[in-house]
Amino acid sequence: MGDLTTRIRHPDLMGRIMTPEAAAALIEDGMVIGMSGFTKSGDAKAVPLALAARGHTDPFKITLITGASLGHEIDRKLTEAGVLARRMPFQADPTLRKAINRGEVMFIDQHLSETVEHLRSNQLGPVDYAIIEAAAITETGAIVPTTSIGNSASLAILAKKVIVEINLAQPLGLDGLHDIYIPSKRPTRAPIPLMACDSRIGTPYVEIPPEKIAAIVVTDTVDSASSVVPADDDTRAIARHLIGLLEREVARGRLNLSLQPLQAGVGSIANSVLQGLADGPFHNLRMYSEVLQDSTFDLFDAGKLTFASASSFSLSAPYASRIYEHFERYKDKLVLRPQEISNHPEVIRRLGIIGINTALEFDIYGNVNSTHVDGTMMMNGIGGSGDFARNAYLSIFVTKSLAKDGAISSVVPMVSHVDHTEHDVDILVTEIGLADLRGLAPRERARIIIDNCVHPTYRDQMNDYFTRALARGGHTPHILEEAFSWHTRRQQTGTMKA
Ligand code: COA
Repeated sequence: MGDLTTRIRHPDLMGRIMTPEAAAALIEDGMVIGMSGFTKSGDAKAVPLALAARGHTDPFKITLITGASLGHEIDRKLTEAGVLARRMPFQADPTLRKAINRGEVMFIDQHLSETVEHLRSNQLGPVDYAIIEAAAITETGAIVPTTSIGNSASLAILAKKVIVEINLAQPLGLDGLHDIYIPSKRPTRAPIPLMACDSRIGTPYVEIPPEKIAAIVVTDTVDSASSVVPADDDTRAIARHLIGLLEREVARGRLNLSLQPLQAGVGSIANSVLQGLADGPFHNLRMYSEVLQDSTFDLFDAGKLTFASASSFSLSAPYASRIYEHFERYKDKLVLRPQEISNHPEVIRRLGIIGINTALEFDIYGNVNSTHVDGTMMMNGIGGSGDFARNAYLSIFVTKSLAKDGAISSVVPMVSHVDHTEHDVDILVTEIGLADLRGLAPRERARIIIDNCVHPTYRDQMNDYFTRALARGGHTPHILEEAFSWHTRRQQTGTMKA
């Protein structure tokens, strides 16, 4: 295990090292457990897996609160062991998703900036144990986080007891990367003093009383790799439309070539759209985002990006090994913050973020569904998309115009579930084209969404719906008995095509 004194610098804490199984045995039936982890980064690894193993022979249930999604199939294994009673605020695991959709796990799909606000004000919780991955514990017992912060800082501060996983596979060079700022209680809270992407307003570690640390587990496992797929013709076309829009904004004098700080959502589409910016005329770009994917480091390497702030990394295996090996090249251009700060409405409004998020489907008036297939089946969760969309300078949603080999049109008459209302959406983009909705009334929006974003194989069908809806009148014309007919047709016949 080597010399642990560089990792556990508080001498009194050495005696609290134990096995993952012994630490997992501290968790009791019915407890509320907070865990580190955000987009498969910086998650506690050994104790959650020991908990899942224990669940097979010693049945118990917990409420699990994380930052966002976990790696190492922790959500799958906890689900299969029947350990999860409730889960919040985000997940992206196929097995857990099925259990949620069967009604076996109660999933609370929450704006990612809000969870710790609810905990802090006792609207949720209390948290019994926080299980937090750390690169080190300082001389004073403070926790140095790893490749994400997410909700870890507040979970550790608010929990009755903390289990720390010291991960030897996480580089000590991460020390100093983080900026932990915890807002004070409301209603007397002061403004968050974050004035630029690169502002540092907190401490580089999570301060907790060392006596709260109930157990330390030593691990040596790298983060799970992200599974983004490379850009394809459609995502390259989406990127081209978006770059065209940004160039026009510059030509009109609304933006300069450094744009405004960028946020890009999780997933393959958002990653390739950001990669596309490397080919644009822009420079001195900054990111104020929730997650930094491979594309962030492509933009650094292309000399386009000067600074990136987020709550987590989400990297593919080759990027992770290259970046963490040469972390000093990037460290002074990066900061990781708690997700309530990376996603804070006040800061997003102040900095004027250009937010680029992904829709599952949107409708002809600009309402966006990011979470529910057919309005009923949970995909992943809203994540931070609502935090950004509501407060952005420019709120952009992207999606491919077709899903499931063309059986689904991602543009529908009426979305089957609303995550982002028409009031939160400025720009919609598919590979077909871009609809700029700013300053347009619903009837005008529908016209340009149909003309610019709907795939040609569905355009006549959509024009037919819209024409007949217009004949019925209204500010936002619809034929209510037909509004979900595209979804029901696909359920009955396998395709939305009439
Ligand atoms: N109806 C049904 N399924 C659809 C669909 C639709 N209208 N549109 C896409 N899908 C399916 C795809 O076929 C794909 O299915 P598969 O996994 O079986 O292949 C899946 O949804 C993912 O779509 P994909 O096109 O690969 O995009 P993605 O990886 O970028 O994910 C979201 C898209 C919307 C699921 C994802 O971005 C998400 O969870 N967003 C919400 C959270 C969020 O925005 N977080 C970031 C905030 S900072």
